[in-house]
Amino acid sequence: MLVRADLNVPLEGGRVADDTRIRASLPTLEWLLEHGASEISVCSHLGRPKGPDPAYAMAPVAARLRELLPDDRVRVLENTRFHPGETSNDAAYARELAAGMDLYVNDAFGSAHRAHASTEGVAHFLPAYAGLLLQAELEHLGRLLGDVQRPFVLVAGGAKVGDKLGVLRNLGGRADTVIVGGKMAEELRHENPLDFEIVLPSDVVAAAAFAEDAKTQTTAYDALPEGWLGLDIGPASRELFAELIGSARTIFWNGPMGVFEWPRFAEGTRAVALAVADADAYSVVGGGDSVRAINELALADRVSWVSTGGGASLELLEGKELPGVAVIPNG
Ligand code: 3PG
Ligand code: MG
Repeated sequence: MLVRADLNVPLEGGRVADDTRIRASLPTLEWLLEHGASEISVCSHLGRPKGPDPAYAMAPVAARLRELLPDDRVRVLENTRFHPGETSNDAAYARELAAGMDLYVNDAFGSAHRAHASTEGVAHFLPAYAGLLLQAELEHLGRLLGDVQRPFVLVAGGAKVGDKLGVLRNLGGRADTVIVGGKMAEELRHENPLDFEIVLPSDVVAAAAFAEDAKTQTTAYDALPEGWLGLDIGPASRELFAELIGSARTIFWNGPMGVFEWPRFAEGTRAVALAVADADAYSVVGGGDSVRAINELALADRVSWVSTGGGASLELLEGKELPGVAVIPNG
């Protein structure tokens, strides 16, 4: 059988930097193995390569999966995005993926918002089922779609600004407070294209260059010196964001507040993570980077649900139908 998982994990120095998504894919694989699967091909994309690129080869991911699930019946296919037919949802490539398989299981919640060959196209050529992770994600995130306890505070950040701004636009009405930090806030420095109020950082940790050891200073959000970059939210913003998060009864957090991989720019993300963990709320954290931050701070068991979806969770929350879910019968 073919299992589409979301094994798009952060890498660092050729190694898996956070294996949350790999671990999250285990229950479905174990279930299939226990129920008689003779061979499982697991496929996923990794990063956003523009074709075959050794920096995005699946080898480190496959090695980690093998450590966690040493079973010869499981193999990991090469990065689906090495093939141009993946993102164009090419039927010929989908057929290629389906060849020799008896059935298809989609467990890649994190990629379910993509109508790609491995997440959507292939389901037209094989009997298609939802995996356990996909189901669990839909259940937990579904709680944010109904009558939520208020205030509902949404915290957005991270780097995929182009993807997320549109989503945020449609989410505005659902949350009582929308906090924006990180690269996303940088984009909004001069103009807020959203038609509702958002809470932006009042101060930032400015860096003279995009470097781990760059010269830094704390400045007002709207007074960033020419040529400097805001690489984290500043102390006043941390305090305000934490206070708002602390008063929430429902929280959704997606995206770091700065370049938290570098310790000197990690304080904002850390403050948000701690506030989310401390809050007396139904709290969902989604997106590879926020989840990595939560894990590094060992806070995962203090939030209600750690979602493997970033963009996918946002689109679900927006009320959109996810193509990877819609294509599954009774999905
Ligand atoms: C994610 O990390 O959000 C998913 O794996 C999807 O990746 P993509 O945004 O590159 O499609
Ligand atoms: Mg991501």
